[in-house]
Amino acid sequence: MVAAMTSPPERFLRSLRAAGVRRVPRGHIEAAAHVHAAPAAPVVAQPADVAAPARPDSAAALAAIATEVAACTRCGLCEKRTLTVPGEGSPTADIVFIGEGPGADEDRTGRPFVGAAGQLLDKIITAGMKLRREDVFIGNVVKCRPPGNRNPTPDETAACADYLARQIDALAPMVLCALGKVAAHQLLDTTLSMARLRGRVHEYRGIPVIPTYHPAYLLRNPAAKVETWQDIQKVMEIAAS
Ligand code: URA
Ligand code: URA
Repeated sequence: MVAAMTSPPERFLRSLRAAGVRRVPRGHIEAAAHVHAAPAAPVVAQPADVAAPARPDSAAALAAIATEVAACTRCGLCEKRTLTVPGEGSPTADIVFIGEGPGADEDRTGRPFVGAAGQLLDKIITAGMKLRREDVFIGNVVKCRPPGNRNPTPDETAACADYLARQIDALAPMVLCALGKVAAHQLLDTTLSMARLRGRVHEYRGIPVIPTYHPAYLLRNPAAKVETWQDIQKVMEIAAS
């Protein structure tokens, strides 16, 4: 049987829900509906959480970015995506991981790092760092899946760059951990190899950046986990300072 078809507005709303967005300002839905040239589905308001977030402004800023991303048509990746993957985690995270872009599992669920590489990242966060996944924020350079898991093109990363920049501004973390070459190149505006980049503290707009190997690379090259563990310890040291 052919998979159930969903209309663009439905997918837009599923993207928002996957991103943890519970309320959408009316104008955003109308804007999205306009983009998709289809009527908007109603958004059901959810009861507000009991505890107010510690940094309500960053939560709201992240939700607004996720809403924009869900309707984004800035590059060709929008044509083949199922769900956008804006990123998820604590709006007050001290530690932010940046990957490359969604794979098949992420495209299907709207959540970052949920496939095989994601399971290794989960292990790094929980077993290694003794944190919970929801304590950190996990984002990506591009928010839509490059077909066939190819690297995003320079045009695609450029089209998406402003979303990541605004997410980092909203999060204002203590430290950024760039997972793999694509994220390191984007944040550090360089084309140096990962072998040359890692082992030093870099900087993105005043925020320390630790580049390390991508979890997918570690799955193929388990010996490099030793170096990633050194990098992760540096991440924790900076976050604790
Ligand atoms: N690889 C990435 O770079 N990001 C994801 O979200 C998943 C896999
Ligand atoms: N090369 C990459 O592209 N990524 C890594 O994480 C390591 C080497």
